[in-house]
Amino acid sequence: MISKQQNDRLTRVGPGTPMGDLLRRYWHPVGAVQDLAEEPVRRVRIMGENLTLYRSEAGEYGLIGERCPHRRVDMEYGIPDERGLRCPYHGWLFDKAGRCLEMPFDDRVNPGSTHKDRIAMLAYPVRELGGLVFAYLGPAPAPLLPRWDVLAREGFDAIVEIHNLPCNWLQCMDNAADPMHFEYLHAALGNYALKKQGKPPAMKVARHLKIDFDRFDLGIMKRRLLEGEPETVDDWTTGHPLLFPNILAVGSVDAPTLQFRVPVDDTNTRQFAYRTLRRKPGAPARPMVVNHAKLFNEQGKIVADNIPAQDMVAWVMQGPISDRENEHLAASDKGVLMYHKMLNEEMDKVQRGEEPMCVFRDPAENEPMIDIRRERRNLQTFESRYDTHFDRLAPAK
Ligand code: FES
Ligand SMILES: [Fe+2]
Repeated sequence: MISKQQNDRLTRVGPGTPMGDLLRRYWHPVGAVQDLAEEPVRRVRIMGENLTLYRSEAGEYGLIGERCPHRRVDMEYGIPDERGLRCPYHGWLFDKAGRCLEMPFDDRVNPGSTHKDRIAMLAYPVRELGGLVFAYLGPAPAPLLPRWDVLAREGFDAIVEIHNLPCNWLQCMDNAADPMHFEYLHAALGNYALKKQGKPPAMKVARHLKIDFDRFDLGIMKRRLLEGEPETVDDWTTGHPLLFPNILAVGSVDAPTLQFRVPVDDTNTRQFAYRTLRRKPGAPARPMVVNHAKLFNEQGKIVADNIPAQDMVAWVMQGPISDRENEHLAASDKGVLMYHKMLNEEMDKVQRGEEPMCVFRDPAENEPMIDIRRERRNLQTFESRYDTHFDRLAPAK
């Protein structure tokens, strides 16, 4: 249990809040290259800020403010230009740094006027990696965009599933520091969901005898010892790390996944689940699939017959912002406590003007990629499930 004030500090992400300041020190995905190829101007809300993400006619990405500084029209209807994005109302043109390059009528009637040099739009740096567009909303200079393994490794096909979740981001991350939930949220609830569909149980998982957590330079590495395993098994099988501050690594070496949990605002989160599958020898590369997945069915329920949906049940059903002042933590919450402690320590660092952990500035640490250890024990048959998933969404030709 923590106080209401402590909970606010951990959950609120708007500009100027301690957590907002911490999360702004990291790059976050804000869109998919494929989506911008289809619709080059898109509204983005991230950490409580409304912005406009666009792809210029020259193929460059930009992330600028929501409204034109002239008469405040929404830039979602902007027109992409070679040099940036043009306001649809009177044609002012803005580049990716937010500078005003043209004021068509003023430039005509007052040639040589410097008025446009005094007009600026909010603008944030954006970069593309692995088919996603990432943004950095923090103070300059921006750190390196981390080359996480799934984004940079050759020989894998990718599916990105994007979910909009009506809950605070921390609920998704607390779940990543809590391995014991596998027995109930996944095995028991999953089998119950299948039973209601008249299907046999699909999940069998041994009970957890021990759980433990190790801090490492990228976040928290998890360990679990399951019933029937010797104590020595790979020093309890480790893996499945929480990458600080808001990413979970799951899957196996042949089907690694990263889940980016991006705060939209205090009560909404967008998850980009970046799933990859090792390509079979000689098979052609499949184009990346971007799937905007629906969370609720027509009855307004999450159908909990698969692992990602079961996790989403837990996140969303804790409410818009979990009232941690009323919770009662127990032995299974050791990882959650460690994670909250880290968040508080790293927020303190930022408030003192120091750099928080897991910010990369040395190219040697980032090239060719940051390799993440996955759990060696196979808790679920990711490969076969993802194979089917790929075939459904992107049939092999
Ligand atoms: S409102 Fe944007 S140019 Fe006039
Ligand atoms: Fe889970």
